Amino acid sequence: MASSSRSQFTSRFGFIMAAAGSAVGLGNVWGFPTQAASNGGAVFLIVYLLMVFLLAFPMLVAELTIGRYGQANSIRSFRAAWPKGKVPMMALGIVGMIVASLILSFYGIVAGWLMGSFAESGLTLIGMKQQGLWLTTYSVPRNLVLMIAFMLLTMYVVRNGVAQGIEKWSTRLMPVLFVLFIVLTLYIFTQDGALEGLKMYLVPDFSQLTPGLAVSAMGQAFFSLSLGVCVMTTYGSYLPKNTNIPKTAAQVALIDTGVAFIAGLMILPAMFVAKHNGVEIFSDSGALLNSDTLVFTVLPAMFDSMGMIGAFVGVIFFLLMIIAAMTSSISMLEVPVSCVTEELKLSRTKAVLVIGGIIIAISATIVCNFQLLFGAVIQLTTVYSQPIIALLITLTVGWIWNRHQILAELKQGYPELENSWFWKIWPWYVRIICPILMLMVFFT
Ligand code: PFF
Repeated sequence: MASSSRSQFTSRFGFIMAAAGSAVGLGNVWGFPTQAASNGGAVFLIVYLLMVFLLAFPMLVAELTIGRYGQANSIRSFRAAWPKGKVPMMALGIVGMIVASLILSFYGIVAGWLMGSFAESGLTLIGMKQQGLWLTTYSVPRNLVLMIAFMLLTMYVVRNGVAQGIEKWSTRLMPVLFVLFIVLTLYIFTQDGALEGLKMYLVPDFSQLTPGLAVSAMGQAFFSLSLGVCVMTTYGSYLPKNTNIPKTAAQVALIDTGVAFIAGLMILPAMFVAKHNGVEIFSDSGALLNSDTLVFTVLPAMFDSMGMIGAFVGVIFFLLMIIAAMTSSISMLEVPVSCVTEELKLSRTKAVLVIGGIIIAISATIVCNFQLLFGAVIQLTTVYSQPIIALLITLTVGWIWNRHQILAELKQGYPELENSWFWKIWPWYVRIICPILMLMVFFT
């Protein structure tokens, strides 16, 4: 099955940066803190950590293993796991590819706004605030221009391939992201009001625990680890055979969860710093105002109230968000691009142009029918499609794929696997517990 000319990640570090780059994105820096702030803070954090450990991590191992076994795009990798069930397996790969493209079509719009906010903070810094206003004021042309700019950047990186594009840029950008992140978090801690946010984030109030919270936490965990969209299957297919998959998956999950945790440490205190500075963030009933636009309204208002240094902090913050979004968007685009280059034998450049063009067209349609489509596409992809595809993947790995093949595949990078705790638990876990947990969460 393996074709020797297929590209691979050139180092384990490179793979970890790329996979963690895919996982770490707006979901961590924007989604997780906003969800935590609207769902009881510390209680959400606890349920989220449980979901990552109990569901997302075993799923991540499953997706990476299928991909590495298949050594091909997701359509072909799923087919390899169950050669007799060609049609349903190919359908699963195709649906995954479509969902990845749809996620990119809304992700690109949000990332475009971040580029606008970044440029505006930069202009403010050099005293040209007025000229930057267009960039942050909602309008269809502004949304279109910024989305296209972001998509072109994403296409540029993916066109350069796995090692020269994805790996190179992920290993450059991810460390920068970590450093900027820590600096900004420490800075926010020094501001008045930060302590109140920390308290909300770290001291649980169990009266806030509701069944709906588990559903939100599960969705957030899947989105955050880029599961149920074939991204990890595709990245797994570029993984050398001597890589220890469970260990690598654990490291990726740890980095992703660590970044989400630190994002919470930054954003929740930042909200209270903003409140301290007179920005309204909670309604009278205690609900979070504008939760969807938190980073675009509350944070810039906070940066504004901090004077000149605020503009500087704003530039760093939005740069951080763009980097995080970029390493995720390239992973989404890679899913359809790998399918098209391998299945239709198109060159990478052509595939990137065609698929990128289609996604830009879908994105533009969303921009022009924003009220109708934006929320609906997010709902369709992240609330329904991702968990359902993830469920089908656990069923494939747990019930359909031959156990000896799975063992042989994992053993290549982990020779002592058979005697490990991991192998005693994981196959049963993926077979029984993961589907039951997912269905339980769905139907509560
Ligand atoms: N994991 C990314 C984030 O947390 O922002 C989002 C994401 C990337 C979702 C890739 C889906 C995907 F295929």
